[in-house]
Amino acid sequence: MEKILTQAEWAARAQEVLPAGGFGNFDPSVFISHGKGARVWDQDGNEFVDLLIGSGPMLLGHGNEEVQEAIFEQIPKGMTFFANNTAGVELAEEICRAVPCAQQLRYVSSGGEADMYALRLARAFTGRDKIVKFEGGYHGMSAEAQMSLAPTHPSNFPQAIPDSAGIPESVSAEMLIAPFNDFAYIRSLLSEYGSDVAAIIVEPLQRIIPPLPGFLQLLRDEADKYGIVLIFDEVVTGFRFAYGGAQEHYGVTPDLCTLGKVIGGGFPLAAVVGKADIMAHFDAKVVGRDKWLMQLGTLSGNPVASVAGLKTLEILRRDGSYEKLNQNGRMLMAMADRAMSKSDLPYQIVGEPSLFEVVFTDPPVRSYRDVLNADTKASTRYNAALRRGGVFKSSGKTYPSLALEEADFGTIENAISMAGTLALEYSKN
Ligand SMILES: Cc1ncc(COP(=O)(O)O)c(C=O)c1O
Repeated sequence: MEKILTQAEWAARAQEVLPAGGFGNFDPSVFISHGKGARVWDQDGNEFVDLLIGSGPMLLGHGNEEVQEAIFEQIPKGMTFFANNTAGVELAEEICRAVPCAQQLRYVSSGGEADMYALRLARAFTGRDKIVKFEGGYHGMSAEAQMSLAPTHPSNFPQAIPDSAGIPESVSAEMLIAPFNDFAYIRSLLSEYGSDVAAIIVEPLQRIIPPLPGFLQLLRDEADKYGIVLIFDEVVTGFRFAYGGAQEHYGVTPDLCTLGKVIGGGFPLAAVVGKADIMAHFDAKVVGRDKWLMQLGTLSGNPVASVAGLKTLEILRRDGSYEKLNQNGRMLMAMADRAMSKSDLPYQIVGEPSLFEVVFTDPPVRSYRDVLNADTKASTRYNAALRRGGVFKSSGKTYPSLALEEADFGTIENAISMAGTLALEYSKN
């Protein structure tokens, strides 16, 4: 019989062939063997309630049977063709019905790719080079997106600092970095550079930080004033905050948005979406060869991903889906609040019900530096206690899903109160 390797043995094997022992995403000592509903199991058989949900895509939970059926129906017909397929068109039609800014769509395979093309598209449309990005904003791994993503020693705004080696200095020169939620700074930055700026790219909820009332509208107004393309990165918030995404939820419509995660139903599929006159730059016949954006990808509009996405969206459209998701999130937020309020540690629960985190700090969390200055040791202890208590999550985010059931809430409540007791002990010492 074949020997079953432990997680530690797999980690040793991975170390040989994968730099840093993993895929670059998550704690490389953890191997997930399978998932069902709101639960995942690691290679050693430990069971967890999953509040990571694949970093966002598995909003319906793992192994949803209707989604599986759609995939199983597609697979025998073929897995990828490079040519158009009808499921990809149907999914594009549904996204254009749902998302306020969406008149047309171009598929790619990852959210980071979508962000990279959205920036290039804005440059092609405006004929300008500069990009406004917010410090701490995450837009994938392109050179532009790596600017001031997670600086440990923040510099003076609007100076861009690369968070990765291998990026030419010339890229920083085209980036203008601003603090999220700072109304006055954006006004003054654009009064100086506005006519050179191609795009403002923003996560409408920056990681977990909500926009202050009026901030997204200010970006909309300032973009209009200077002829700048406003891009919402909705890779996370799309089809999560509402069926129409954060733009529906917050009531501000960008010119372009990027989507990923939920729209692929767990498969690699993402998209740049937006107004037709801007999207026209993907069509050389409309804009002419000089203003055309060459863009193609082997797996773009993959039919298996498209049917998984279509079925996922169909389920999300059913009555009560978003009420239930938000209700699940509110229950988790309340649990965290009850547990943490017993200690004297300063904390806040920051975010929206469908995506939030406990941040151990007193001053209001409005931008990246407020999170940077929070108590990271307390956060590490909180997350470690949750993991020990059978809850699987990343250290910076809590992602509720629609699959959570009563027993899952019981596990989470116990784990969170354990984290609360530890926080209490810590705050007394
Ligand atoms: C806001 C945001 N944009 C873009 C991305 C990149 O998406 P992907 O990992 O699919 O490239 C992520 C990934 O988590 C994200 O959170």
